[in-house]
Amino acid sequence: MKTLLIVYHSMTGGTLQMANAAAAGAAAAEPSLQVSLLRAAEAGAAHVLGAAGYVFATPENLAAMSGQMKDFFDRTYYAALERLNGRPYAALICAGSDGRNAAEQIARIATGWRLRPIADPLIVCTHAQTPEEILQPKRISETHLQQCEQLGATLAAGVAMGIF
Ligand SMILES: Cc1cc2nc3c(=O)[nH]c(=O)nc-3n(C[C@H](O)[C@H](O)[C@H](O)COP(=O)(O)O)c2cc1C
Repeated sequence: MKTLLIVYHSMTGGTLQMANAAAAGAAAAEPSLQVSLLRAAEAGAAHVLGAAGYVFATPENLAAMSGQMKDFFDRTYYAALERLNGRPYAALICAGSDGRNAAEQIARIATGWRLRPIADPLIVCTHAQTPEEILQPKRISETHLQQCEQLGATLAAGVAMGIF
């Protein structure tokens, strides 16, 4: 059975909702695929090597992917290098108002791994501005969650059919 690995980190819940939606979309689209949703801290090189496709989901914090997401890549990058060539991936970014730097960082790492993006990074802005808003739990809109579901479904279908 092929596995779609979804690795995420989330501090105030926004990225988690996006990752959950992608997982639900993937599972609904392809029941034959195993969908593995792991927190970045739980995910290791064996999970990466064992998967046929990937969703990387992170907040943008301080103009970068979150520290735990970076730690995941730091721990797995060289163990997986040259062993993932050509596999497909998608990136989900939850940001306050930007998100482009986190997306760029993931794209550079994925390029190093020779992964292939199946779509542009999906960046969702929560528009939190003040320190209080930024630290509050986030609620991602239904429209954005549907986009995450769709991305998960598309990736899952391509992985299951072997077209990516
Ligand atoms: C320490 C910190 C730094 C942040 N820096 C940025 C930033 O550089 N750009 C941005 O768009 N949002 C920034 N944000 C806002 C978060 O991306 C936003 O709150 C997002 O919803 C967090 O995702 P999460 O709910 O999954 O934790 C920052 C938030 C925190 C806590």
